[in-house]
Amino acid sequence: MHKFVLALALAAGTAHAQPADEVGRKTFETCAACHSFKEGDNGTGPSLHAIVGRKAGTVEGFRYSGPLKRSNIVWDEASLTAFLRDPQQAVPGNRMPFSGIEDEAALKAVVRYLQAQAK
Ligand code: HEC
Repeated sequence: MHKFVLALALAAGTAHAQPADEVGRKTFETCAACHSFKEGDNGTGPSLHAIVGRKAGTVEGFRYSGPLKRSNIVWDEASLTAFLRDPQQAVPGNRMPFSGIEDEAALKAVVRYLQAQAK
């Protein structure tokens, strides 16, 4: 877990000097340990292919936690922002081993990156 916190601190530290899409790409490097955008490419986390507009917990072949499957979330800008800011507060009991992104610039940038990539 410390590794992720450090990576986010690094991304946050450079947030002001770089354009948002670069910050988003850098921030996503943390996620890429577990997530790919390729359809059907599930790793530790489910594929994020076409994530925006999709219902939570519905990638075929991935074993989700009950709380995420039952969350009834449809991923959009607001729900992704809340989930990535504080996963356990947004969906209590979900099994994503990630503590959240505190830096608002990095958070915004990574959500924008998801919107751009995950079509
Ligand atoms: C250490 C592995 C890991 C990291 C790092 C991680 N995730 Fe996840 N992610 C998961 C797992 C596992 C789940 C499924 C959780 C569940 O079933 O409760 C998940 C679920 C998700 C979901 C919901 C997917 C769906 O189909 O409903 C999104 C969106 C997501 N992660 C985005 C991200 C983003 C963006 C980052 C980086 C900021 C990130 N994750 C970092 C493992 C990870």
